[in-house]
Amino acid sequence: MSVMLATMGSRTRRHADATQMVRTGHRPVLLTELLQTLAPQPGEVVIDATLGAAGVSEAFLQRVLPGGRVLAFDRDPAAVGRAQERLAGYGWAFEARVGRFSQLAALLEGTGVRPDVVVMDLGISSLQLDDPARGFSFQQEGPLDMRMDPSSGAPSAADLLATMGESELADLLFRLGDERNSRAIARAVVRRRQTAPLQTTTELAELCQSAIPRRRWPSRIHPATKTFLALRIAVNDELEEIEKGITASVQLLRPGGRIGVISFHSGEDYLAKRSLHVLAQDCVCPPQRPVCTCAHRATLSLLNRKVIKPTEDEIRANPRARSARLRAAVRLPDPSP
Ligand SMILES: C[S@@+](CC[C@H](N)C(=O)[O-])C[C@H]1O[C@@H](n2cnc3c(N)ncnc32)[C@H](O)[C@@H]1O
Repeated sequence: MSVMLATMGSRTRRHADATQMVRTGHRPVLLTELLQTLAPQPGEVVIDATLGAAGVSEAFLQRVLPGGRVLAFDRDPAAVGRAQERLAGYGWAFEARVGRFSQLAALLEGTGVRPDVVVMDLGISSLQLDDPARGFSFQQEGPLDMRMDPSSGAPSAADLLATMGESELADLLFRLGDERNSRAIARAVVRRRQTAPLQTTTELAELCQSAIPRRRWPSRIHPATKTFLALRIAVNDELEEIEKGITASVQLLRPGGRIGVISFHSGEDYLAKRSLHVLAQDCVCPPQRPVCTCAHRATLSLLNRKVIKPTEDEIRANPRARSARLRAAVRLPDPSP
């Protein structure tokens, strides 16, 4: 079905998106635009670096068959297990493995794979957000975990809140979540943990509400939204992952291969834009330097100068798509020796 999305009218497309939501529990965003921009062809090899509920993987599979395949990664073992089961019918053409996209080169070592397409659909899936046990949502009671890979042994959100110094925490909330009330929230966290550690999502959501004076509450979002976003980014080291992931993906792409990156908040989009733009530049010397000394050569050409945003129709059908942005580029030929 997804193979036809690009040519569908918006009502039919809404129906197709909704059907996919029911089947997978996550509705992919900007899917039509992703397929149009990256134009996967039969026989091509696609790396889906952010498998999630495998909606994007399946749409690309239907475009690259016959002859092509999708190799998908997710750092969340639960996502990989579910997708392997759901897409088992595709046999050799679909393979899913646990792994972080910053490690793509190591994950593909010895396979000889040079993909024609790499897709990075950043952030978390609805499956993760809507599962209270994962601790990503302030709307449902659950442990303050927030690790995309709970088996990683990395510190959880509760661990960070129990151990970080007040100014370090305030800085993290401001830098990663753009939270203007970061000092008040950090102060409240430190005061609270002197009596009992913060253990649940609702405890943290209530603390944010009471730490921020009502007149300073944001008008359109819950007072805990930015705190939860900042903690999630920190727990999963997401910003560093993005930079390393884009660089690794571009190095792997074959000449003529395409990369598409979908971001969901300004921090992600800034890094996606910067990483792709730097790789698309012939010289990265500071502007005041009269002669180029960097020897940097472009490996990419941008496919869209202007970032691609969801249509009003898509936002109406799926409000979570509101802040999604797509950037894409094509790999240039390797320089001749
Ligand atoms: C927005 S969802 C992807 C949804 C997917 N495109 C679909 O159609 O269902 C993002 C997924 O990427 C995974 N992820 C995030 N950062 C990752 C990383 N550094 N390496 C691998 N997977 C990552 C998350 O665990 C999550 O499952």
